[in-house]
Amino acid sequence: MSESATEEKTQTIETPEGTFTIRLTMDDMGDIYPGMIRYNIEVLRGTETVYTYAINSYEIPPGSLFDARKTADIVFARLAQDVSSRPHLYLRPRVFTRPLPGDTVDVVILQGSPRRFGNSAKIASWCDDEAARAGLSSRVFYLQDMDIRACIGCYVCYDQGYCPVDDDMPRLIRALETASLIVVCTPVYTNTVPAPLKAAMDRCQWLHAREKVLGKEVRARGLLIAVAGRRGKEAFTCVTGVVRAFMGNLGIRFAEPILIGDLDRLRDVAEIEGIEEEIRASLRVLLVSGDEG
Ligand SMILES: Cc1cc2nc3c(=O)[nH]c(=O)nc-3n(C[C@H](O)[C@H](O)[C@H](O)COP(=O)(O)O)c2cc1C
Repeated sequence: MSESATEEKTQTIETPEGTFTIRLTMDDMGDIYPGMIRYNIEVLRGTETVYTYAINSYEIPPGSLFDARKTADIVFARLAQDVSSRPHLYLRPRVFTRPLPGDTVDVVILQGSPRRFGNSAKIASWCDDEAARAGLSSRVFYLQDMDIRACIGCYVCYDQGYCPVDDDMPRLIRALETASLIVVCTPVYTNTVPAPLKAAMDRCQWLHAREKVLGKEVRARGLLIAVAGRRGKEAFTCVTGVVRAFMGNLGIRFAEPILIGDLDRLRDVAEIEGIEEEIRASLRVLLVSGDEG
């Protein structure tokens, strides 16, 4: 039970396997989203927690038959019945938290273009190389090649800090959680970012939930490097807004973006005089500034 939780009801059940307590508590999570409430159910054998369940009010769409409180009451009653009739299933704790798979890295580079050898991929490789020169570990995530599904808006991540969708996202979350610099390299697609990058950013709501539920803070700087076919800064208005919102949501400090247009005409970003050095220099500044400013 978290410190802010209030107890709603408890039930004690005597069984041949010992005394069990089922406890329903309520957490006011209004500081995360307006009116968000989480109900937590714990099954204890003696003083040891052997099972947990949680549901929050944002999980329940407006057209649902039951609200979160009613659902929690139903689960409470079903658990009471189950513990009474099958106490042997509640002898040992079920797994409540699990480590995320994948590696920790200093620099995460989100490569948003589906083109493996395109401009964003080239820029990503310069960033990757600059991180290596600084003696840091880095990883380029080619989002097009990963199995990252769209967020289903279930809000289950706000229960215990885990997303129920089974795909490649956990290793990205793991890397983002530990990185000190996050670089987004992307082309402009229909004024915004390509779909796989948008999907990954939406799914990072999970990271926001982990910050709020598990206190896993992201302490990173963020840099956007975007390329566009058209000339002028207007092509980047939405991309900048979307990436800024993504980083702002996670508390990532957004550095001055690097926006490179006119690529329909120029084709290859490497042909722009001085651009590679400009990007590398920006990286160097962010890599040494670390947690400052
Ligand atoms: C589906 C699609 C949509 C695009 N939409 C825009 C756009 O809205 N504005 C723009 O300036 N360029 C647009 N472009 C051009 C790309 O941003 C440009 O070709 C970029 O250099 C591609 O980057 P990449 O080499 O990293 O894939 C679009 C390209 C594609 C394939």
